[in-house]
Amino acid sequence: MLKNKNRTSNLEPRTSNLEPRTSNRIVMKHDFEPKIVAFVCTWCTYAGADLAGTSRMQYPSNVRVVKFPCTGRIDPVFILKAFQKGADGVLVSGCHPGDCHYMAGNFHARRRFAAFRKLLEFVGVDLSRLQFSWVSAAEGGKWVEVVTELTERVRAMGPMLEFKELEIEECWSGKIDTPELKEAYNNI
Ligand code: FES
Repeated sequence: MLKNKNRTSNLEPRTSNLEPRTSNRIVMKHDFEPKIVAFVCTWCTYAGADLAGTSRMQYPSNVRVVKFPCTGRIDPVFILKAFQKGADGVLVSGCHPGDCHYMAGNFHARRRFAAFRKLLEFVGVDLSRLQFSWVSAAEGGKWVEVVTELTERVRAMGPMLEFKELEIEECWSGKIDTPELKEAYNNI
């Protein structure tokens, strides 16, 4: 008898606590639209994205494209900076191996990002938020696929809060109070 009473009383507050949380979660899920930054090379992936647009293919409008002459020019720090400035996901895409207009730019990029992934993991970035791919100028359909898949994955993961929390913590603890540290922090 007692057992039953306890169970009921334990369950009641829990159920009432869960109600607002559940409804908040539902609201967040529907409201959250991820910000995706795509760093692309101008010769292949940018042209592929352009082809998707001119062919009237539909893809999520969450993506903001930043074009570079070649993926070899994309500094890994740009990725960190994008996350720090509020991106929820980042895409890096260029010419297929062997098709780089500067011969080996994409090979350099591939090697650099393979090493950079470990650093991202170390600073707490979930690597599922980052995607590398090759999309040629003729692959408008592949661009649509890549962008749609990444957007859906990041939407399911929710907002990227890791760097924002870190920034708030640093401000509160006064670690970025000196002008030198502030400058170094802004130059990351
Ligand atoms: S020109 Fe496209 S990756 Fe180098």
